[in-house]
Amino acid sequence: MERYVILARMSVIIAPSVLSADFARLHADIEMINSSRAGWIHIDVMDGVFVPNISFGFPVLKAIRRLTTKWLDVHLMIVQPERYIREFRDAGADLITVHYEAVTHLDSVIHQIKNTGAQAGVALNPATPVTVLSHVAPLLDLVLIMSVNPGFGGQQFIPYAIQKVAALRTLLRESGSSAKIEVDGGVGTDNARALCEAGADVLVAGNAIFGSANPTKTIEEMLQSCTSDRP
Ligand code: DX5
Ligand code: ZN
Repeated sequence: MERYVILARMSVIIAPSVLSADFARLHADIEMINSSRAGWIHIDVMDGVFVPNISFGFPVLKAIRRLTTKWLDVHLMIVQPERYIREFRDAGADLITVHYEAVTHLDSVIHQIKNTGAQAGVALNPATPVTVLSHVAPLLDLVLIMSVNPGFGGQQFIPYAIQKVAALRTLLRESGSSAKIEVDGGVGTDNARALCEAGADVLVAGNAIFGSANPTKTIEEMLQSCTSDRP
């Protein structure tokens, strides 16, 4: 009964990661998201320094902004993100997430993001404990738990991320923070329910959605697995 109550009050957000989209037909893939019940679009920016991969930057974000009214959730996997916050906001970001491991003056960067009018998020690599955020949690709109080592789509989910989500849920409650919990990496229909039960609010999925024969249906199934009483 208690589990039902927990799930019934949840309104999980599915955020397809365009890193796994087909960039030769990006317009069609954004249209698919527009016509689905996905709430956000997750945008992975990689610099080849913080992570070993390079993805895309402002021109692609601006193009996506013109194609959608969905919330643009920008995940910066770059060093010194403070150099680019204003540009990402101007390119269309609604929420800007920086990595704890990429920033020296985190408190300052959080305020910098909020001063642009965007929402502010902090991402934690798998090995970084949630307790590093105990003091800044009340300032945040979102905490992103990485459930793979960042850099690439299509990797295998790291199971202990579920324990981190539960620990973060407790930390947020105890610190009076209303930050959402987002999980990113290896997320799909197989683990969505466990993540929601642990306390996740936003589920990012790249390969699970764009690698599926019916992406819209997969989004629906992920939503269902977090809101239905039965698995
Ligand atoms: C990984 C990125 C993820 C990635 C997720 O560094 O942050 O957003 O696109 O892709 P999947 O869902 O395929 O693991
Ligand atoms: Zn991401």
